[in-house]
Amino acid sequence: MAPSSPQREQWSSRLGFVLAAAGSAIGLGNIWRFPFKAGDNGGGAFVLIYLACLLFLCVPYLFAELALGRKSQKNPVGAIRAIRARTPWSLVGGLCVLAGLAILSYYAVVAGWAVGYIVHDVTAAAEPSSAAFERFIADPVWVVLLFGAFLFTTIGVVAGGVQRGIERCAKILMPVLFVLICLVIFRAVTLPGASAGLDFYLNPDFSKVTGLVVVEALGQAFFSLSLGMGAMITYGSYLPDNENLVVSGSYVALFDTVVALMAGLMIFPAVFAMGQNPAEGPALVFVVLPEVFGAMPLGSFVGLLFFLLLAIAALTSSISLLEVVVSYLVDERAWTRRTAAWGAGGLAFLLGLPSALSQGAVPALSDLSWLVGGHLLGPRPGLLDVMDFLWGSVALALGALLLSLFVGWVWGSDNALRELRTGRGYTLGGLAGPAWRIAIKYLCPLTILVVLVFDVLYDVL
Ligand code: PFF
Repeated sequence: MAPSSPQREQWSSRLGFVLAAAGSAIGLGNIWRFPFKAGDNGGGAFVLIYLACLLFLCVPYLFAELALGRKSQKNPVGAIRAIRARTPWSLVGGLCVLAGLAILSYYAVVAGWAVGYIVHDVTAAAEPSSAAFERFIADPVWVVLLFGAFLFTTIGVVAGGVQRGIERCAKILMPVLFVLICLVIFRAVTLPGASAGLDFYLNPDFSKVTGLVVVEALGQAFFSLSLGMGAMITYGSYLPDNENLVVSGSYVALFDTVVALMAGLMIFPAVFAMGQNPAEGPALVFVVLPEVFGAMPLGSFVGLLFFLLLAIAALTSSISLLEVVVSYLVDERAWTRRTAAWGAGGLAFLLGLPSALSQGAVPALSDLSWLVGGHLLGPRPGLLDVMDFLWGSVALALGALLLSLFVGWVWGSDNALRELRTGRGYTLGGLAGPAWRIAIKYLCPLTILVVLVFDVLYDVL
């Protein structure tokens, strides 16, 4: 096993790790993607399937990433090399680092939109919110400025280091996020007519469930927990040997799930109370919600709180995306953290510019239907949609498939289980250990493979 370098940083406490990792997990995926996926796919039924995917597949897989990171005390490339030096498996680590950079490049664009919605009073627009949104995201100057500012903040935090940058930021922002979510839920569920939204969200309608809904739920669960691209390998690598991975990993999954469920409680009661359609797809948060806020008492204040919390959630996630790349450059290429953060962040900016300009600003980037078409990407996918599909769905699924094979079969589930059983407290005793081995060796690779095939067939064909 590769020795860890003496000066490698670690989290200061379990709370520090749990908040930082929950910060990674809780992001646009929970507050923007989860509600619209649930809205499109039958509300409560989707939620139940999502929970089953989390429990049986994502949480066991999360433990595998954490174990690999903690054991090796390395970034994704180094972690794989520490177990199997000089084999093509290290390419999987390379895929993780590339995915981190690529996802960051467009994730920060969408996060920039959220920042823009804090700055503008979205309820004061004179035109319908769909027209206002389309005009806003097609404005090259604003969009690039906001994207750049968001990325700049992310770089600043990551350059500050594991404890003084990432952990400190999470310790301040995560409680703020939670309080803001509670405030918005309170406003939403006290609106007259909110109960229809609660009904839609909490009463499953199984007639809407198809194979595709299951595929969507599983893909969403992986994205939401930041799995498949080594973010949890990297965060796990800053954990000390005596930390209990099972307990702290379970907290991360629990917080992520609670926040996704709470996002539904913010959104559906308000959408139904204001007579809007819950199945609006990606426009739900940026188009439907401003109309909802515009029509309700205290709306512009609630709108400001909402987009503030969306931006905070996105920040703690984009930090982890950049950290995957930075940890690689620091561990494997001996760059200083500061140089790595600015270098990788600068590259993400250049890489993200085409995505930022792909929502109407540059027509050639805004309609790639000649290149890809399909059910999930919509009739006129822009570059940003294609990037999200390629990296946020396909690359994550591929990464998760290969990493579960690596942990289950190459490193070996016995070795991984031994790592999971290190530390005090509950460590998968009794039948949980063998069950975990079945999940990581068979259940995860097989189901992820099915998701990958479906995703590609449905989106591209
Ligand atoms: N989990 C984040 C979200 O739900 O928004 C997205 C994400 C962050 C995915 C970090 C992957 C990752 F490594």
